[in-house]
Amino acid sequence: MIECVPIMKVFVTRAIAEKALARVRQAAETEVWPEDRAIPREVLLEKVRGMAGLLCLLTDPIDGTLMDAAGVSLKVISQMAVGCDNIDVPAATVRRIPVGHTPGVLTDATADMAWALLMAAARRVAESDRYVRARRWKMWSPTLMLGTEVTGATLGIVGFGRIGAAVAKRARGFDMRILYHSRTRRPELEASLGVQCADFETLLRESDFVSIHTPLSAETRRLFGEAQFKSMKPTAILINTARGPIVDRAALYHALKDGAIAQAALDVTDPEPIRPDDPLLELDNITIVPHIGSATVQTREKMATMAAANLIAGLRGERLPNCVNPAVYENR
Ligand code: NAP
Ligand code: GLV
Repeated sequence: MIECVPIMKVFVTRAIAEKALARVRQAAETEVWPEDRAIPREVLLEKVRGMAGLLCLLTDPIDGTLMDAAGVSLKVISQMAVGCDNIDVPAATVRRIPVGHTPGVLTDATADMAWALLMAAARRVAESDRYVRARRWKMWSPTLMLGTEVTGATLGIVGFGRIGAAVAKRARGFDMRILYHSRTRRPELEASLGVQCADFETLLRESDFVSIHTPLSAETRRLFGEAQFKSMKPTAILINTARGPIVDRAALYHALKDGAIAQAALDVTDPEPIRPDDPLLELDNITIVPHIGSATVQTREKMATMAAANLIAGLRGERLPNCVNPAVYENR
């Protein structure tokens, strides 16, 4: 008698690097959402039905309802990002579904973007570009587009994990004084990177640049509001490459407009994309780019490969190489 082995099916919510997709196709019957926009929720609820694996992006809200729509067949959720705030991880853990993510491979690209924004804000690069394109550049001037010096300034890093430490590493080349604030002290990095641990209040008060690198969580949502901006130097520059909702956008608008801080540079907004009528877009002292921290050809390929590896391990019932909720493997 021939035994029928059911074919496992997976759903991928956007076209990712072809090399990674080819691996997924070898492991399972694969359907990819073909459009270059986030899949609408009601469509995803239909598509996940009976799937063994889901490879998703940070633009897909993944909650218990969606997991239940997939049904008991769902063996793994693999996110192509390091941050998983779009996924209800406890809901996955309760259902014993491992969730994969892509730490490490995007650290350098994202730290580079934090630095690109820091330099752009400090030296008013985007504003100067708008000035030139508006045909307003008439002559060299001793006072035109004066920015602030990066070399020797104090950099405050909030959230000192992989990306925070990589940002500090780059700051050493600029002879900066580097403060960090994190839940866990990192003494091993204090000597090797020349960084000092500081409480949040001191970091805000003393830093010329404040760069955010925490995950978005209940604890970090609106970590930056009116009180924090008032604690900062009026010359300070805020850089956010972590998640938009860590910063209260109304408070940021007022801080920039009223001069509580000098500049902001954001890779992430709340919501994403930023609303066309968001008053932040009217300000000259803010630089905003469209969540492109990890957007290099090389990094996106590594992220896709890692997401595929997590997905395939989950389909095989193996431990995910990079799992957000290892509690699913306890008491098995
Ligand atoms: P990570 O290595 O886990 O680092 C996060 C750090 O934040 C950890 O050191 C953590 O400390 C600290 N932290 C957590 N909660 C905190 C709090 N309430 N106050 C102070 N520190 C806190 O993560 P990562 O790989 O560096 O990534 C960080 C975040 O960057 C991601 O979660 C993601 O949202 C964002 N990101 C954005 C892009 C982009 O394209 N813009 C790309 C990649 C990542 P403990 O370990 O002690 O909790
Ligand atoms: C990007 O924002 C990520 O979390 O990987």
